[in-house]
Amino acid sequence: TITSVQEALSGRIPAGSQVTVRGWVRTRRDSKAGLSFVNLSDGSGFHPIQLVAPAALPNYDSEVRHLTAGCAIVATGTLVASQGQGQAFEIQAEAVEVSGWVDDPETYPIQPKAHSMEFLREVAHLRPRTNLFGAVTRIRHCLAQAVHRYFHEQGFVWVNTPIITTSDAEGAGQLFRVSTLDLANLPYGEEGGVDFGRDFFGKETFLTVSGQLNVEAYALALSKVYTFGPTFRAENSNTARHLAEFWMIEPEVAFADLDALAGLSEQFLKYLFAAVLAERADDMAFIAERVEKSAVSRLEAFIAAPFERIDYTDAIALLQKSGQKFEYPVEWGLDLQTEHERWLSEQHVGRPVVVTNYPEQIKAFYMRINDDGRTVAAMDVLAPGIGEIIGGSQREERLDLLDARMAQFGIEREHYEWYRDLRRYGTVPHGGFGLGFERLVCYVCGLSNIRDAIPYPRTPGHATF
Ligand code: 4AD
Ligand code: MG
Repeated sequence: TITSVQEALSGRIPAGSQVTVRGWVRTRRDSKAGLSFVNLSDGSGFHPIQLVAPAALPNYDSEVRHLTAGCAIVATGTLVASQGQGQAFEIQAEAVEVSGWVDDPETYPIQPKAHSMEFLREVAHLRPRTNLFGAVTRIRHCLAQAVHRYFHEQGFVWVNTPIITTSDAEGAGQLFRVSTLDLANLPYGEEGGVDFGRDFFGKETFLTVSGQLNVEAYALALSKVYTFGPTFRAENSNTARHLAEFWMIEPEVAFADLDALAGLSEQFLKYLFAAVLAERADDMAFIAERVEKSAVSRLEAFIAAPFERIDYTDAIALLQKSGQKFEYPVEWGLDLQTEHERWLSEQHVGRPVVVTNYPEQIKAFYMRINDDGRTVAAMDVLAPGIGEIIGGSQREERLDLLDARMAQFGIEREHYEWYRDLRRYGTVPHGGFGLGFERLVCYVCGLSNIRDAIPYPRTPGHATF
């Protein structure tokens, strides 16, 4: 039977069975006794399987002895208990068929050695063949599955919000404009000097920066909903934690206040980390060995500790009293920078912190104004080692106050009539938050650069693959 490497190593297939495995060669070693040992990976799990290929194979001299890293093969043989350390089973090969050779083994980029992360970004199409990117990819998948499972179990409904929009949900002006290439397909407009994108839709359109406004409408009908999809921001920040294209998870809950949202964010993150520890122990063990010694214990500590909650005003006072020399100023009314966020969660409390009630002028127009008139019901979750991982808020559900905030930010009402409707037809207190999926992957895998948390990173100047 054809089986995955993971299945062959699992113990579920009895020793003595005939199996066929297919994948890519990691290493080949020839023994003096006229045998070759080939490590084969198909990415189904962390561990490759060892094939023991005897010289008696008809293509031993012509092919098997020429296999190099990256060659694709199909191997059939008997599954047997292994004497080798670190693996329970190996395969005594009876047939090895080469599906694809590596053209020039000397220059094949993925050699069996440690490569720098910078180098691997240049071969983003081949880096999934490394141990590290195999592990990160499986952990990312595990997290995505756990996201859907958590919300499903909690009674949330997944809502798919549009990628092409007309509104700037965050009001930060970091929009990519959408345009068409083919003039002949334009339903509107005339030839010559047309704005292709605008004329296709009859108005100017952009790639979404957040599905929040759209998903709010669904929360005000289905009560508990979430989006999980690609998000685009043309922010010209070449940092280790910003991407131009990233995935965001945005739950939105009717009748929820800030306290409920902070509780949800805590329960949610802990569920995700527990899922990874339970389901990807092999990959996490490798991460702990190669990337960050404390990767597993850090997640365990995260799960065990209750989140700290700090008011923004208190956070500013703490930062000012810290005696720390920060690059950016600390002053009530200014946004917290990564260095401040990290000091709060790392130096001050040593665990995740929820900072609440930020000054109204530095936060988005849709956030609910507090009774003090100068702060909004916003919350950011700051994690040690990374800073902001979640941003959220209670939404302004009162039409007059929403209108006032839109006017204050110079937002044109006519683009948001549908959003105002939600405050005119059965408005209720509600709110939600956004979790950056790649920041989550970075955190779990101990990655220091967000470009390594997504298969094909998009950053200023980079869209190669
Ligand atoms: O704080 P942000 O901008 O919040 C929103 O977009 C709200 N609409 C969310 C909501 O309330 N429904 O973004 C939320 C999270 C951040 O905390 C961060 O983790 C991530 O999205 N994020 C980015 N991740 C990678 N690259 C970028 N350029 C990011 N910008 C935000
Ligand atoms: Mg934010």
